[in-house]
Amino acid sequence: MTATLRATAQSDIPALTKLLARVYKFDPSDFHSNPRLLEWKYLCRRTGWDGSRSYVLERDGEIVAHGGVCPVTFRLPKGGTVSSLTIMDWAADPSSPGAGLMLYRKLMEMAPTSFVIGGAPVTRQIIPRIGFRRAGDALTYAGWLRPWREFRTRPRNGRSVLRLLHGLAHPVHIRRGLSEPWEFVSVSEFDDSLQPILNGARRTWTFCQRTVADLNYLLQCPHLKMRGFLLRRQGLPGGYFVLGKSDWETRLLDWVVDSDDMSDWKLACAAVTNAALLDPEACRIRVLSTLPILSQALAWNGYWCQYKEPIALHDPGDALGRAFPVSFQLFDGDSGY
Ligand SMILES: CC(C)(COP(=O)(O)OP(=O)(O)OC[C@H]1O[C@@H](n2cnc3c(N)ncnc32)[C@H](O)[C@@H]1OP(=O)(O)O)[C@@H](O)C(=O)NCCC(=O)NCCS
Repeated sequence: MTATLRATAQSDIPALTKLLARVYKFDPSDFHSNPRLLEWKYLCRRTGWDGSRSYVLERDGEIVAHGGVCPVTFRLPKGGTVSSLTIMDWAADPSSPGAGLMLYRKLMEMAPTSFVIGGAPVTRQIIPRIGFRRAGDALTYAGWLRPWREFRTRPRNGRSVLRLLHGLAHPVHIRRGLSEPWEFVSVSEFDDSLQPILNGARRTWTFCQRTVADLNYLLQCPHLKMRGFLLRRQGLPGGYFVLGKSDWETRLLDWVVDSDDMSDWKLACAAVTNAALLDPEACRIRVLSTLPILSQALAWNGYWCQYKEPIALHDPGDALGRAFPVSFQLFDGDSGY
């Protein structure tokens, strides 16, 4: 019998949970297959996509493959936009060879371009064969906030002491006085006053477009303790950022500094660090950087590059020919939650 592709419905969540747990060999308590997280990821409304963002391939009434879509709209420096997507929670039952690849190809057809940041070893092996090409690197930076606390909080292993020594030797730089022109204000949700910043007129590179609704959707992520902040420069709107916390780790899921000036990014990054430090349980902060200006701001604040992953792009119509580097954030995929 042929396989059919359909959008996942609420009633499919238990079967999807089981498929993901079986294929990825998750422990039943693993958050990745938590139904609440899957509902938020795929069934809660998001701008830029109609209906469910999760798709299954079904054969004889059985789900044999799954792929979830994270929709992205690239805003180009000259003002045009290009739709794109990245696929999350890609899984296929080994008893249906090729089902995973078939579904992946069908999801790729849903947008003119698609991208993969990093990806599991199997994904990295397969995607060059289906038209993806390397389009740059994504750097993951980390900043030590409280290495001693992290050492005491996390289960000990062979790396714990080395990690502690590294953390004590390379703490983030706390620049309270310097970052004064840049302040942060905590918000329970974002509102339309952010719109001029989201329009991105001052950003001279390609970025993933956001709406106020996108940011408020992010704040609802059930897996992390989420906090939203506005950035102000000398009292005027200057950007925003969203922090999410999972146990000892804080993640900068999304941020924008409404400037292309390096010193603004450095001082705004200092303000982000100060906001992260307000949480007494925060031990470390993780940030994705795909832009030199952001990497330099992070390094100036004492963050270190923990690892580098390839960015792969499928762009058959060359819509993004001159668009890279693109500013991606942890929100553009699911590696932050
Ligand atoms: C990735 C996955 C969805 C692919 O599903 P599928 O297309 O049904 O899988 P298949 O076993 O038919 O493999 C498809 C192709 O990938 C290749 N492949 C499969 N596993 C591989 C691996 N670990 N490394 C390299 N290539 C691999 C196969 O050889 C096959 O190539 P071929 O057509 O030339 O023979 C499935 O292997 C899976 O669920 N893996 C575990 C979950 C995972 O790691 N997901 C990706 C991270 S998001």
